[in-house]
Amino acid sequence: MTNDAPLDGPFDDRRQAPAVARNRDPILTVLREVLPLSGRVLEIASGTGEHAAHFAAALRDLVWQPSDPDPDARSSIAAWRAGAGLSNLLEPIALDAAAPDWPAMRVEAVLCINMIHISAWSATEGLMAGAANVLDSGRPLVLYGPYRRHDRPLEPSNAAFDEDLRHRNPEWGLRSVESVRACALDYGLAFDQLVEMPANNLMLVFRKR
Ligand SMILES: C[S@@+](CC[C@H](N)C(=O)[O-])C[C@H]1O[C@@H](n2cnc3c(N)ncnc32)[C@H](O)[C@@H]1O
Repeated sequence: MTNDAPLDGPFDDRRQAPAVARNRDPILTVLREVLPLSGRVLEIASGTGEHAAHFAAALRDLVWQPSDPDPDARSSIAAWRAGAGLSNLLEPIALDAAAPDWPAMRVEAVLCINMIHISAWSATEGLMAGAANVLDSGRPLVLYGPYRRHDRPLEPSNAAFDEDLRHRNPEWGLRSVESVRACALDYGLAFDQLVEMPANNLMLVFRKR
């Protein structure tokens, strides 16, 4: 949450991440294609909660379950939820993707935006294990973020971002699509599609076997 700014105003804990205003509609366009029409979506690493509020408002037949391990993030998510007044947006839950004890639940989709490069690899492994546990066969795990690709150099903006991440924490950094795909497959999540997104980001869609 370090780069996120509090909103001005008298009320609440809502925080804003500048990138969300730029990426939320391109992401929504893909979500409309890959998410089921109804059911529950578990969002991992919801951050400020702006995505959850935006997607829940746009996809009213889905029930949105935001989560984050960071209490400040959960306060911000709860504040966005209160402001949105949406019956299909649930209270955020505490969930560390790396933890072995994800809450017992069944969901129709799992979404994770911008976490894999800014957490230890154990969070990606936990994400795959946890998503495989909560999804039924054919249901999607949807990822968004910047990645490396084996057949091309990193774009200059992503190379600079990667260097900055590694400087901040040696366990962080841009992962390769191929390593994420291999990790997903280890947990029974088959690669479905890759979507090129603005600003050198990708969406990766996996489906439970
Ligand atoms: C860069 S922010 C992205 C937030 C939001 N998804 C977005 O795109 O604006 C990274 C988020 O990952 C969360 N995070 C870090 N490690 C995590 C883990 N092990 N499990 C779940 N979330 C984690 C942080 O708390 C933070 O909210």
